[in-house]
Amino acid sequence: MLKRNLAELSVADGKLYRDAMARYAGHVQLVTTALGDTRRGVAVTAACSVSDNPPTILVCLNHNNEKNDIFFESGIFALNSLAARHQPLSHAFSGLEKLTMEARFAHGNWDTLVTGAPALVDAVATYDCRIVKLVPHATHTIMIGEVAALRLGAQDPALVYMDRSYRTL
Ligand SMILES: Cc1cc2nc3c(=O)[nH]c(=O)nc-3n(C[C@H](O)[C@H](O)[C@H](O)COP(=O)(O)O)c2cc1C
Repeated sequence: MLKRNLAELSVADGKLYRDAMARYAGHVQLVTTALGDTRRGVAVTAACSVSDNPPTILVCLNHNNEKNDIFFESGIFALNSLAARHQPLSHAFSGLEKLTMEARFAHGNWDTLVTGAPALVDAVATYDCRIVKLVPHATHTIMIGEVAALRLGAQDPALVYMDRSYRTL
C-alpha cells in the first residue's frame, strides 16, 4: 500500500501537481515594472524572501508570456503586498478580465519610490527592487531583486489565494 502511494506520488503528473499546489496558501501580491512610458503589473503568489542581508526577495514569472519580457528588460520591479480589501485590484491584474494595462492600473493609486517601478500607495508593504539575477527554469524565470526602498502601509488582513479562491488571513 505504501509502495503504491509512493509510486503515485513520483509520477510527473501536471494535474496532480496543480491540485497539490492549490492547497498552498499564497499571499497575493502585484509585481510591477516600468520601461519608458510603459507600465506592467501582474498578480502573483510565487514570491518570497531570500535574505535580510542585503534585503533580497524573489518573484517567479512565466516567461512563456512574452508580455513579461518588460520585467527582464527594465531590470527593476516592485512587489506590492495586498490586503483583503484589494481583491478587485488583484482580479484586474490576474488577466482574467482581459483589461488593458492602463485600465488595470486605474483600479488603484500609484506612485514610485526609488527605482521608478509602480508602487501601490495603500499596499500593506511595497518592496522596490533592482534585479540582481534572472534565473530561467522550465516555464518561469526567477527574478532575484535587491530591495532599494521599502514602504510599510496599514497592517490590514492579508489577501490570500488557496483552493482556487480568495481568502483573508
Ligand atoms: C492568485 C494568482 C496568482 C498568480 N501567481 C502567478 C505567479 O506567481 N507567477 C506568474 O507568472 N503568474 C501568476 N499568475 C497569473 C498572472 O497574474 C497572469 O498570467 C497575468 O496577469 C496575465 O497578464 P496578461 O493578460 O497581461 O498576459 C497568478 C494569477 C492569480 C489569479
